[in-house]
Amino acid sequence: MEQVMQYIAANKERYLSELKDFLSIPSVSSQSSHNADTQRCAQWVADHMRSIGMNNVKVMPTPGHPVVYSEWLGAPGAPTVLFYGHYDVQPVDPLNLWDSPPFEMSIRGEKIFARGSADDKGQVFIHFKGIEALMKRNGRLPVNVKMLIEGEEEVGSANLDDFVKANKELLKADLVLISDSSMFAKGVPSICYALRGLSYLEIEVAGPNRDLHSGSFGGSVHNPIQALSEMIASLHDKNGRITIPGFYKTVRPLSKAERDAFRKLPFKEKAYAKELGVKELYGEKGFSSLERVWARPTLECNGIWGGYTGEGAKTVLPSKAFAKISCRLVPDQTSGAVAKLVEKHLKKIAPKTVDVKVTFLHGGEAAITPIDSAGVKAAVAALEKGFGKKPLYQREGGSIPIVVQFKKLLGLDTVLLGFGLPDENAHSPNEFLNIDNFYGGIRTSVHFFTELPSYWGKKAVRK
Ligand code: BES
Ligand code: ZN
Repeated sequence: MEQVMQYIAANKERYLSELKDFLSIPSVSSQSSHNADTQRCAQWVADHMRSIGMNNVKVMPTPGHPVVYSEWLGAPGAPTVLFYGHYDVQPVDPLNLWDSPPFEMSIRGEKIFARGSADDKGQVFIHFKGIEALMKRNGRLPVNVKMLIEGEEEVGSANLDDFVKANKELLKADLVLISDSSMFAKGVPSICYALRGLSYLEIEVAGPNRDLHSGSFGGSVHNPIQALSEMIASLHDKNGRITIPGFYKTVRPLSKAERDAFRKLPFKEKAYAKELGVKELYGEKGFSSLERVWARPTLECNGIWGGYTGEGAKTVLPSKAFAKISCRLVPDQTSGAVAKLVEKHLKKIAPKTVDVKVTFLHGGEAAITPIDSAGVKAAVAALEKGFGKKPLYQREGGSIPIVVQFKKLLGLDTVLLGFGLPDENAHSPNEFLNIDNFYGGIRTSVHFFTELPSYWGKKAVRK
């Protein structure tokens, strides 16, 4: 182990230059103009997997962006870890708010800035380097490892279900490991045990058959932007609760024990508000911020547009207005059922003056993972060794749709071992990964793979 840790310390600079390469590829999955980059990124991942000693490396096509698979199966009798991550990233706009170009990695202070540094390329790379260190120093791994790095997580993993269904044998494993979430805070490592689900919709509100002069027609027709705004504003009541009938019907209530556990976490509402730059926090009455973000469903407007938004003034009464709406979901809501409820409600409240069209974009289900599994125990021990502190247990508000599917399709539980930070600007300008977490993550990766066999212990393992 000493030698493996020395290897990591001796290769710190090289790690950064390789990470820089990975982060320089603009693999934005939602924008087709980046399809060639996304393809190139898959190839980079495959080449890198080969360089760290993984076998049977394959770039596997899907109807969307490719999946990259590899394996190292030289530890018969030891458990098999399926490591999942994603090489795709979110769009970078608004570009002018970045302090350095999003695809040119820049280290300032203790932060590694670039799109994808935390979500998720940096965290995937952490395990590449953990595996590499073990392979280079010991010539083998303590466990069997399969890697599945996809290119469509940020757009809902739409093709991954079918991929998993078609490759059940190839993906056979004992547990899933994912590093695509955050620690509780800097210096406070954590194990995540729940993620929210998602239901994403787009609304089109159509009024007059063409844009109109707002002087000649204003006053005689319902402006679609106004109609849409009225509809959106009515979706929450004065207590911050969602007004859509049936929305909360299947929501699993928080237990007293869990609420007590949340309350004991080192979290200060005031400091949280200050860090976010908001004058006051907002949300569903009767719940704390952690409860609202981790364990209560929400409805957000992600974007709203229509009419003239260019420079200067243009007097126009637009023909159409649009909005993107997403709901974060908790057990036992389902993405499809919520989408139907939202659509039905929007159609019902639409004023007679306009036509409303609702399109479902994507979704995923909420997940709760066991915290007493051998995998989690190994992760706890690994974090303690890698970061010098016992981790705490937390939920997260974000979504990783495949977690539930891994359980459903492959029968596998997931260990969520996050190395990001809650303020790392994921999906926003100036995304970064903390450099101590980067190196601490690599050490933790080595410890996880090393600790796992002993925690797996007497459990039945696949040959
Ligand atoms: N890394 C995030 C998921 C995440 C976010 C976990 C915050 C924990 C805390 C992931 O890449 C992501 O952003 N997922 C999307 C999924 C969606 C497009 C289905 C999300 O949550 O918006
Ligand atoms: Zn991610």
